[in-house]
Amino acid sequence: MTSDMDTREDDTGAGPDTSRYLDYLLTNRRFTAPAVSAAVASIALPEPGRPLRVLDAGTGAGGALPELIDLARPSAGTVVAVDVEARAIDAARERIGGASTEPGVDLRVADLREVAAEAVADGRGFDLIWSSDVVWPATFEDPAGVVGALAEALAPGGVLALFTTNYYQSMFLPGHSRLERLIRTASELTWGLPGDGPTHYERLGAWLRGAGLADVGLRVLPLAVPSTEPAARAYLERIVWPEMRHAAASHGRAAGMSDTDLARAEELLDPDGAAWAGADPDGFVVQPTVLWTGRAATA
Ligand SMILES: C[S@@+](CC[C@H](N)C(=O)[O-])C[C@H]1O[C@@H](n2cnc3c(N)ncnc32)[C@H](O)[C@@H]1O
Repeated sequence: MTSDMDTREDDTGAGPDTSRYLDYLLTNRRFTAPAVSAAVASIALPEPGRPLRVLDAGTGAGGALPELIDLARPSAGTVVAVDVEARAIDAARERIGGASTEPGVDLRVADLREVAAEAVADGRGFDLIWSSDVVWPATFEDPAGVVGALAEALAPGGVLALFTTNYYQSMFLPGHSRLERLIRTASELTWGLPGDGPTHYERLGAWLRGAGLADVGLRVLPLAVPSTEPAARAYLERIVWPEMRHAAASHGRAAGMSDTDLARAEELLDPDGAAWAGADPDGFVVQPTVLWTGRAATA
């Protein structure tokens, strides 16, 4: 679900509950910050011999922006960060404070596909395009096509970096694995996600390769902390567990949950429930985030 707590503010019924969009961006940003930092640091950057050009496509609350600005600064490069949501751009601007007025930093409300098309039309491709939890089938009907458009917007030798927090392979209810698998299926149904096929959200590497990029590879950057850790706690309590509770209630039956399963999910996920997951002193969260990268041919 995380790749798209997007713009559908009012949909809290049968579809995904996206009413906490901004809270999601902020709590997720805080929880995933160590993995995002490590992911950006791991990218082998091109050295074009001129100021570096960086695009943050779907910046959200600017989770990776400080690191991307640090990458561009030594060459007096530029960082363009775009999001279709004005609230996201405001949060991203607040995140970087004074850096938002630096000459090379440009934060805009825009569709990443238009920004990519402009770069192609201007012949001024990006040396690095970072996109985190943005390209997936709940947001784009043709995610492979979007990756293709981003790949075209790379300068020769440029890198396209697709990061995913990998929500659906994470451990949020340790000790309740069967129930967690069922709720995960319910959540996928809530988001209308395909169970497999060419638009499945785990096809990021295939989309990079299909876009003609070379050196396609992945790296796992795990987050693993006790659920008492404050950033994990906020993320679990405010975003993850409510999302799971909503998914179980709305699509649990379709995912194969029995009455007993639904009752057990409710007592684990309701803060007032008899067995609330948040009361487990030995709870923990594991989120195996993944960075996929691919490189454009050199001229
Ligand atoms: C799940 S959030 C991730 C935000 C941020 N990259 C992060 O990792 O925290 C996805 C973001 O992509 C933005 N988005 C969705 N479609 C977009 C598009 N076509 N162009 C630009 N941004 C888009 C949404 O508004 C949302 O802020």
